[in-house]
Amino acid sequence: MTTADLILAIDQGTTGSTCLLVDPQLRVLARATREFPQHFPQPGWVEHDPDELYASVLAAVAEVLSRSGVAPGRIAAIGITNQRETSLVWDRRDGRPLHRALVWQDRRTADTCESLRAAGHEDLIRARTGLLLDPYFAATKLAWVLDHVPGARARAEAGELAAGTVDTYLVWRLTAGAAHVSEPSNASRTLLWPLHSGGWDDELCALLRVPRAILPQVLACTARFGETRGVPGLPDGIPIHGIAGDQQSALFGQACFNPGEAKCTYGTGAFAMLNTGDAPVASRHGLLTTIGWQIGERTTYCLEGSAFMAGAVVQWLRDGLGFVVKASEIEALAASVPDSGGVVLVPAHAGLGAPYWRPHARGLISGITRGTTRAHIARAALEGIALQIADLLRAMSADIGAPLKALKVDGGAAANDLLMQLQADLLGVPIARPTMLEATALGAVFLAGLGVGVWSDTTALAAAWQQDRAFTPSPPSTALATLRSNWERAVALA
Ligand code: G3P
Repeated sequence: MTTADLILAIDQGTTGSTCLLVDPQLRVLARATREFPQHFPQPGWVEHDPDELYASVLAAVAEVLSRSGVAPGRIAAIGITNQRETSLVWDRRDGRPLHRALVWQDRRTADTCESLRAAGHEDLIRARTGLLLDPYFAATKLAWVLDHVPGARARAEAGELAAGTVDTYLVWRLTAGAAHVSEPSNASRTLLWPLHSGGWDDELCALLRVPRAILPQVLACTARFGETRGVPGLPDGIPIHGIAGDQQSALFGQACFNPGEAKCTYGTGAFAMLNTGDAPVASRHGLLTTIGWQIGERTTYCLEGSAFMAGAVVQWLRDGLGFVVKASEIEALAASVPDSGGVVLVPAHAGLGAPYWRPHARGLISGITRGTTRAHIARAALEGIALQIADLLRAMSADIGAPLKALKVDGGAAANDLLMQLQADLLGVPIARPTMLEATALGAVFLAGLGVGVWSDTTALAAAWQQDRAFTPSPPSTALATLRSNWERAVALA
């Protein structure tokens, strides 16, 4: 008889779905990534087709199984981590979505957020959820779907519809509609889940016009969320036993288990997160307070800074401007010039997130001269990514009243040595890059393995963290100071 000892992690991200198959020694037996289409129906709108999204997950699962050659019966549990805030509404009877998913980058509810702010509701939301009024979060997206699909609101109130973030939708599909569930790290990005209690907040649901009846049941991150049923290529009955939003999962996968430990993940966006331990820390500098994870009854909290464009800027230079054929070529192009020649690129293509929170801001390139080349713009793009993160981490230090000691990095763009060196220089803080850049998926592996009992505590994960390379900050210089002041001027104009 086959022993089930492997964990299958599904990392459903903004531009693609990645799967890892991992053994109890944390060796990756196989990995696969499938991109899926992005839909931009209007400026500022970003949508995903739920079937295309799910198909990319199934394709990545199939590829990982065929590459590893292992029998699916060896999978002990599935862990899920996902792009957060992206929201869906579907019919409980047949699972059919009412609308494409509204992606976290989608800005269409900016005016709703502004009206709620003008009506004086932001303080309550901030105090209760640790978030603020921005179209980034799920609630106004859910309300938009209910208001724009004919009949949807009445059907939602009658209990005919289900809603959720991508974790909830995937579990629904993987269990053939048997489970409508989520967990606190995703729930805490909706504007409807208070930091301090364990339940959807009726007052916030009423204020943001999201009927309580469409929301999922919320379980701890290592709970048994359901079992596979009717999934092509997988046997029925595999438990889904670990879930966390991708940024919280990356913090977990980077073994940042102690207060004061921080990571930055460079994916589609870039997200810096600091573990603040058992108590939430309120931000006074434009950051978010959020739930990291809940294991058993214990909740770990974080401070987070979200920059909406990071890897997506490189993708835009490749696909929108045709600067390179492959994203990995950006580093060589940017390194072919010693500096950006005074060019500043503010990556506000999807508005500006923390600490600025300007949903109507748009991308900007300034300082162009007749000598400007693609290389200068490519370098300015990398600097723009690093400068946003530097602003976030300065805000983080101000919130905790102490300088950050070190930063762990992960995600696809963390492989870019030039970006990492720029980041270290602009932060003045040493950066540690692990050998395993897929920290997000690793976090989900570990949560599922803890849930199903492959590991009994986090010791193995902490021991498995290995440094690939450290980036030491260069001494402060006039060039860095000029870069920073040019950036501040450009951000103000974006
Ligand atoms: O909050 C959005 C975030 O979860 C998306 O992450 O990795 O898809 O850029 P990523």
